[in-house]
Amino acid sequence: MCGIVGYIGPKQAAQFLIEGLKKLEYRGYDSAGIAVYDGSKINVEKSVGRLNVLEKKVEQIAPKGHVGIGHTRWATHGRPSDANSHPHTDCSGNFVVVHNGIIENYLHLKEKLIAKGHVFTSETDTEVLAHLVEEHYQGDFEAAVKKVLADVEGSYAMVFLSNYEPDKIICSKQDNPLVIGLGDGENFVASDIPAIINRTRKTYILSDGEMAIVTKDSVWVMNRQGVPVSKKVFEVHWDAEAAEKGGYEHFMIKEIYEQPKAIRETTAGRLAKDDSSIIFDELKWTKDDVAAIRKITIVACGTAYHAGIVGKYYLEQLARIPVEVDVASEFRYRSPLVDDKTLAIVISQSGETLDTLAALKEAKKLGARTLAITNVVGSSIAREADQVIYTQAGPEIAVASTKAYTTQLIGLLMVALYFAAFKGTLPEERIQAIIRGLKQLPSQAHEILEDVEAIKTFAKEYGFNEDVFFIGRSLDYAVALEGSLKLKEISYIHAEAYAAGELKHGTLALIIEGVPVIALATQRDVYEKTLSNIKEVKARDAVVIGIGMQGDEEIKKYVDHTILIPVTDKYLAPILAVIPLQLLAYYAAVTRGADVDKPRNLAKSVTVE
Ligand code: M6R
Repeated sequence: MCGIVGYIGPKQAAQFLIEGLKKLEYRGYDSAGIAVYDGSKINVEKSVGRLNVLEKKVEQIAPKGHVGIGHTRWATHGRPSDANSHPHTDCSGNFVVVHNGIIENYLHLKEKLIAKGHVFTSETDTEVLAHLVEEHYQGDFEAAVKKVLADVEGSYAMVFLSNYEPDKIICSKQDNPLVIGLGDGENFVASDIPAIINRTRKTYILSDGEMAIVTKDSVWVMNRQGVPVSKKVFEVHWDAEAAEKGGYEHFMIKEIYEQPKAIRETTAGRLAKDDSSIIFDELKWTKDDVAAIRKITIVACGTAYHAGIVGKYYLEQLARIPVEVDVASEFRYRSPLVDDKTLAIVISQSGETLDTLAALKEAKKLGARTLAITNVVGSSIAREADQVIYTQAGPEIAVASTKAYTTQLIGLLMVALYFAAFKGTLPEERIQAIIRGLKQLPSQAHEILEDVEAIKTFAKEYGFNEDVFFIGRSLDYAVALEGSLKLKEISYIHAEAYAAGELKHGTLALIIEGVPVIALATQRDVYEKTLSNIKEVKARDAVVIGIGMQGDEEIKKYVDHTILIPVTDKYLAPILAVIPLQLLAYYAAVTRGADVDKPRNLAKSVTVE
């Protein structure tokens, strides 16, 4: 997982490379580097650490040149260090490469290259690419890169530059994203659109196995065999501002506050005006298709996995279809019982998470129909799945996922209602009530966001505790899982979520005086039982913050503090209840001085296994 950029044109390449890398830092940020051709040779600058270290270096050196490539890294092979930073060069310094992904057969290739006399200077898998192109070069850069592509196994987006033919950049991709920005007398290469939208809105999105020769005036796309591929221009309609912080201190808080808009846009055009049904123009299901689904398997990672757990409640309770939820990295290795009567739903904000993509491919191989719920148009997962529902959350830059989660829940709920209508498992009035509730959600989310003072106070008060517990039953338990992940990943507080009824089977031993317990109690059908569990932790002198619905006077008797969300349907409560938990995690991280948008050891898009 890394970010890649490239530039060729009349301007100073280094300027775009740094600007583009800044927009891609969410893809990795343990080191960065650029390579610029100065008219006679390629000069490489790279450093371990955040991009600003490289930026300062580049400001001093001011590399001149009109073609260059750059990289921001998240370490996979070899620790973060100057030597392991990209770009990597061959022995002669005539070829440089940046790469995102993993070359699985790199050790075998490296041994062969060393035997032929190549000298390696890093521990990375990427460096073999530079030596391979050197090895294959016989006066034709393009032909040499084609041979490299034939040699390597694994996943990659890679971009090459050579002293021999500095009028072009050559790039290719397999299982990792790569876009080409089409300018006027200049062209750009990047892992992701935010890197180029300030320069151009016209792009080619490369598909797996494609290779492109990019000059300042032309872009030639072909498959690995060299057969030309005609590409459609993909016009980006995002607002450039949308990828910026827009006045907030961090992307995470900006994205938390964008949730009313993200919810509105995700439901836009999909809720019938008379509240009678869900409209999915993009889905082509018939009554018979839905009746044929014997099982749904939901596969995802991290926050998207937690959305999947909520989705299980939705699909089982509303559409009465059995659902399994798997962590994507486990799915492939447990011989899953999946066949042509299974619907595999994969959930991924980025659409690029390698484990989720691999699980999707596995489910397809086993015969399942596949449906992706993703936020990124044209992403690998979107392209691989049979059908796609896009959440309309807009770019999510903060590593901690927030608006993607709430919109994923909405996507799943709409799918459950859509299937329920085909299956006749819900009375019409029930469908209408939930749809009416969905229409109120943006203003209710806004209401929560208008009143955050109490949450800020709790964050200050408990932000330095070592441990925090989250408890809840049913859908509240699913939300508790997400609340604890949010707190862990950005504030580094040890946080655990438990099904409230499970505490007495072990975890209760950890509840001692003063330990904060966040108790979710929004689900009326298990409300009394949740209150009993709250009493259990109170009896052990825990400090309890109860999360209920407005008008709940009962909960106040048993907890130390309360946060009340607007009254809503039980299936919509998770979407509102998670917002105070996101805010709590955010303000706890700020209180502790943590790097909110770039938590240690994490990256936004995990494109390695
Ligand atoms: O892009 P994806 O939704 O596939 O990403 C999955 C996880 O890596 C992601 O949700 C991760 O858990 C977030 N950091 C959580 O905030």
